[in-house]
Amino acid sequence: MTTESTDELLVQGLEELYYTEQKLLDALDTLADQTDHEEVSQGFAEHREETEQHVERLEKVFEEIGEEPQRREERVVDALIQEHEAFAGENDGEVLDRYNISTGQKTEHYEIAMYGNVTSLAGKLGHDEAADILEETLREEEAALDELSEAGEQFDRQQVAGD
Ligand SMILES: [Fe+2]
Ligand SMILES: [Fe+2]
Repeated sequence: MTTESTDELLVQGLEELYYTEQKLLDALDTLADQTDHEEVSQGFAEHREETEQHVERLEKVFEEIGEEPQRREERVVDALIQEHEAFAGENDGEVLDRYNISTGQKTEHYEIAMYGNVTSLAGKLGHDEAADILEETLREEEAALDELSEAGEQFDRQQVAGD
């Protein structure tokens, strides 16, 4: 792979993330509103705050590599949001809470894959400062996933105990 095409791959990944993170701001508001379980709802609200930082960090990264911040339509996040809307329209209560946790996990896994790639590509291309900024967000996505996974397991244990 030529450096030029690797460079394009990095920019494309950043543009997709810029689109994805902005979509997730609204999605996380929805998840926080729709989740009855207080701790989980609070977790979504807190990750929304972090997501605002993720958007700002991406803008810094674009600046670092000398590119204008641009959004590139990303159908994966759109599909996740649509799928969630359809389910939320027909379900509520504990089932919706549990589904919201799994939707959160899916998006974090997806973000982790994307941030892992752009962090590595930025490092490879010598954009060390950009790579450091991206890695900071990557760690927050990983922490968010861990919290959600823990919440999901706790939720299932309580459900079993309550049956
Ligand atoms: Fe994020
Ligand atoms: Fe996230």
